[in-house]
Amino acid sequence: MTTRLVETAAKTPTAERPRRLRRLQSLRMLLRETAISPSDFTYPIFVDQRLAVPRPILSMPGISRLSLSDLRKEVMEVVDAKIPAVLLFGLPSRKDSQATEAYANDGIVQQSVRAIKKIEPELVVVTDVCLCEYTDHGHCGIVRAGTILNDETLRLLAKTAVSHAEAGADMVAPSAMMDGQVKAIRSALDEAGYYDTAIMSYSAKYASSFYAPFREAAESSPLWGDRRTYQMDTPNRREALREIALDIEQGADILMVKPALSYLDVIREARDRFDLPLAAYNVSGEYAMIKAAGERGWLDARSIALEVLTAIKRAGADIIITYFAKEAARWLQETNR
Ligand code: PBG
Repeated sequence: MTTRLVETAAKTPTAERPRRLRRLQSLRMLLRETAISPSDFTYPIFVDQRLAVPRPILSMPGISRLSLSDLRKEVMEVVDAKIPAVLLFGLPSRKDSQATEAYANDGIVQQSVRAIKKIEPELVVVTDVCLCEYTDHGHCGIVRAGTILNDETLRLLAKTAVSHAEAGADMVAPSAMMDGQVKAIRSALDEAGYYDTAIMSYSAKYASSFYAPFREAAESSPLWGDRRTYQMDTPNRREALREIALDIEQGADILMVKPALSYLDVIREARDRFDLPLAAYNVSGEYAMIKAAGERGWLDARSIALEVLTAIKRAGADIIITYFAKEAARWLQETNR
């Protein structure tokens, strides 16, 4: 009796054989649940008013700050890669306490938007709406007595957004994490007649250490203190859902979770709970880590990057903002992994 049982077990040790469906590359392709494509990507671009030629960003290998005149080449590359959107950041020639250059008519972002729309009207131009690159103290808002003022900042964010819309931006992306910023921007845009300018809100933006390379790129580190009184505390999940719900009430068109990789749970939950399109920002530190380890030969940057981008999509993101966009588009074209 015992022998018989053992024999049967040896013949059919298990009835469940998921490996059947992994035998061939073609089978794996057929059954793949998540696919990324260049059409998922938004490519961030830094434009520096003081430059005449590109300047590489040391902690972000492969990424440079550009001058206005470099935009043509960059835009052609993005379009050739079939990436539908860019996200613009500006480095002004002058910073002050009121972030004047953020909403200047001839500010660097405003000029860049005009230039890009002239080169390629079909390319979606998203602008980051924040003050940290434009204030002399590096905080995202107006400061008085060591405090970042909320409501005084709203006025300037709204002004900045309207100036971007005026220049031709398709979408503005407020990232200052001031309360009520989406409402303030929506009202100002509507009042100025820009009903069709969409708002992609950095709804759940955490006070993350993953932004360090970006701050080198954008020269936007706060001179004193940190951003913890406005950006979210990293351990919180429910608070992110509350921030998102508030942004929807205020009129956001697209939501965002940022950073992406350490917050995949938040992306998933936001996707399950809300129906608006969802973006995830694969931030500078996430890019730098992979690049650095790849350069040392500690891992294969290419396959890691594609794995990570796929994970962000699998978690529920519709739009992936990533510095890998151009490279990943090329990799995706070259192979089917
Ligand atoms: C501006 C802003 C930041 C990033 C996007 N918009 C920096 C910050 O909040 O300090 C970070 C993007 C990245 O790390 O790639 N507030």
